[in-house]
Amino acid sequence: MVNLDDIRQRARAELAAADAPEALEAWRLAYLGRRGAVTQILRGLGELALEERRRLGATANDLRAELEGALAGRQTELERVAVAALEAGAIDVTLPGRPSLVGRLHPITQTLQDVLTAFGAMGFQIAEGPEVEWEYYNFDALRIPKHHPARDTMDTFWLDYRRDGERAMLLRTHTSPNQIRFMEKHEPPIRVVVPGRTYRYEATDATHEWMITQVEVLAVDEGITMRHLKWTMAEFVRAIFGEDRPIRFRCDHFPFVEPGAEVAVQCGLCRGEGCRSCGNEGYLEICGAGMVHREILENVGYDADRYTGFAAGFGVERIAMLRHGIEDIRLFYGNDLRFLRQF
Ligand code: DAH
Repeated sequence: MVNLDDIRQRARAELAAADAPEALEAWRLAYLGRRGAVTQILRGLGELALEERRRLGATANDLRAELEGALAGRQTELERVAVAALEAGAIDVTLPGRPSLVGRLHPITQTLQDVLTAFGAMGFQIAEGPEVEWEYYNFDALRIPKHHPARDTMDTFWLDYRRDGERAMLLRTHTSPNQIRFMEKHEPPIRVVVPGRTYRYEATDATHEWMITQVEVLAVDEGITMRHLKWTMAEFVRAIFGEDRPIRFRCDHFPFVEPGAEVAVQCGLCRGEGCRSCGNEGYLEICGAGMVHREILENVGYDADRYTGFAAGFGVERIAMLRHGIEDIRLFYGNDLRFLRQF
């Protein structure tokens, strides 16, 4: 004969001690589950005599209902305790979370994107070329043969690779080789800009880095003249430096253009008066440019009587420095977040 009162007492005591969801579930299985104590009793009723079955059945059913109610009550109570603990500040829900660090574009990337957008608006497409370049494209095809003095202006990282006993590959010193590469693969009309990293074996200081980002500009078509070059450069300066920045064109020499020019923008600090920032010039050089040399057009197989073109090339770091008033080029690749976060 089972004693229902014993079961009730034990169940009540254990329930009061259960203080976690797992404990409650174990308790439920022990008393109300398929093999639970109360369930077993109800199952065994069939073997009893009628009188006995009625009596025990009624009390056992009452007990089951009672324990079910007690379980629900205990569950609610535990939830209330848990919420109260949260509210009491065991976890301070008002404490700000730790923000995840959101990256941003490097200032050179930002300026480069603006430059490419400006040229894109003028109908230029974007192309790219290799950073490890043949001597031929970097120098010879641009009319800078061995022992030409122009090679001395570009201190060069040569690769160990040799062809016929001679060094023939280098880290490109400028993006100009892509003039040749692009013309070899395309026919005029051409409007293309080629961004990319360039390398020079250079001692670094406030205005020199051994790696800089350049953009090469090339337009080849029937009837292209210096006026197109000038307008394009003026438009580009307007897009990057604003409406009212005067520009200056002067003669310069580069072996791959004839005539060659240097493009400068008025100094933003002194507005042309001359100050320390512009070396008393009033203007700051930003770009080399010129009309593509006739020989170069012929060498890529173009009819140089029919087609003419202009080319230009400039460093993005310098543009960004002038734009933001940055005085030391080394800041760009110094990985100092205090600097980078300003942009
Ligand atoms: N490639 C030259 C340099 O890095 C810059 C340059 C000058 C590019 C004149 C040009 C150009 O396209 O026409 O010094």
